[in-house]
Amino acid sequence: MQIAVIGAGYVGLTISACWVRMGHQVTCVESDPARLSTIQGGKLPFFEPELEDLVAEGVARGSLRATGVFADAVAPAEVVFIAVGTPSRRTGEPDLSAIDAVTDALRRVPRAERIVGIKSTIPVGTTDRIADALRAAGPAHVAHTPEFLAEGTAVSDFFHPYRVIIGTRSQTAGRVLSSLYQPLRCPILVTDPCTSEMTKYASNTFLATKVSFINQIAALCERTGADVAAVASGMGLDPRVGPHFFRAGVGFGGSCLPKDTRALIALAEQCRLSPALFDTVLKVNDAQRDRFVEKARIALGELAGKRIAVFGLAFKGGTSDVRESPAVDIIGRLMAEGVAVRAFDPAAEDGAMRAVPGLVCCPDIYEAAEGADAVAILTDWQEFVTLDWGRLRRLVREPLVLDGRGLPIADAASAAGFVYIGPSTAVGARPRSAEAARHYAGTPHVASGDS
Ligand code: UDX
Repeated sequence: MQIAVIGAGYVGLTISACWVRMGHQVTCVESDPARLSTIQGGKLPFFEPELEDLVAEGVARGSLRATGVFADAVAPAEVVFIAVGTPSRRTGEPDLSAIDAVTDALRRVPRAERIVGIKSTIPVGTTDRIADALRAAGPAHVAHTPEFLAEGTAVSDFFHPYRVIIGTRSQTAGRVLSSLYQPLRCPILVTDPCTSEMTKYASNTFLATKVSFINQIAALCERTGADVAAVASGMGLDPRVGPHFFRAGVGFGGSCLPKDTRALIALAEQCRLSPALFDTVLKVNDAQRDRFVEKARIALGELAGKRIAVFGLAFKGGTSDVRESPAVDIIGRLMAEGVAVRAFDPAAEDGAMRAVPGLVCCPDIYEAAEGADAVAILTDWQEFVTLDWGRLRRLVREPLVLDGRGLPIADAASAAGFVYIGPSTAVGARPRSAEAARHYAGTPHVASGDS
């Protein structure tokens, strides 16, 4: 099938390369000339595991094309997917200017039997509005086909979806899109557009709610000597609760969970309904950043003049994306208090240095640790789970690790002589002596300095 994808970002380029892998011909439209030439060269304008090989393969075979000319992609396409961004406005409502621009452009390239799948996350009612606008210019079969791709696992998420949702009032769109997705062998839910649009927002906001829930529990664990990771495991064994999205830490970031939660708040307010639950999810999330900085302050005695090695800048492991990254936010707060930060991230340094003027990034994680008064882990990169803590112990000035992501490193770090402080570790004044540090290393409580 001839497919056009409008927008070659995390979603658009991923689905383009994956549809090609499934045997289709795809032309994606990218308006940014630099990104366009990168893609035409078979490269990625961002980091996403497994995607570069797929893009290179598709471009080399001529099955994946990228163009800046909208009509080139859309005129021959039997199916057009719209995958442009809908970022938050200041009010929390999504900015639909890109979607509206694509709709106008589509009206100017009429085609008898075109199917349009909107992958962008859009407010309830938007698909119907777009369908009306397109049908006014000619036959159009429009559906909302929300993406459920997570950054860092986007390719795997495409080929192994938990479900596909098709929100449409057109039987043609329902039939054609169902057949397109059928080889993925997952549940395909064909429903109305409003239900599909709401399902997308509700799904992401629920994931955000789970993260804020376990972070609220972590704060209680800190006061009561419970271990939040063990609590999460115990809860997650109940299939009604589930084990996923229960990792406590510095909270959620990225371009989706915060945006979609804000969008539901805006929708509730438009409907004159209280957004209390969704508001609290964001408030608890924001509070995790303060909580981490306060724990660092208590553990170090003071922040001004201290040197902290920050491991991780991206909003999550496996991506170069720093949008609404808790790490970037926390680094800004630490630097504002006079902390000298040296950071390392496998993929997100460029974006972080643009976001934090003056940020010092080191190409090597052990170089970042030299002379540090503390190591702060702020992104859950898998490679941080297998660090050489003995080597780090010899490099740091103080053996203190503040783990903002609840990685399984407490035993290894403690065995190397570090004081480990995780998402539910109570923090008193740091033990004065290395002897006390060894004594307290690895226990859930770090007692006050009068030991
Ligand atoms: C999310 C949804 O998962 C995906 O289905 C949707 O299509 C797009 O939005 P993404 O934002 O890329 O994907 O990443 P995700 O894995 O959801 O993580 C979001 C944030 O939550 C990250 O900052 C992550 O570190 C944080 N998180 C996630 C936690 O803090 N704890 C967890 O247990 C899980």
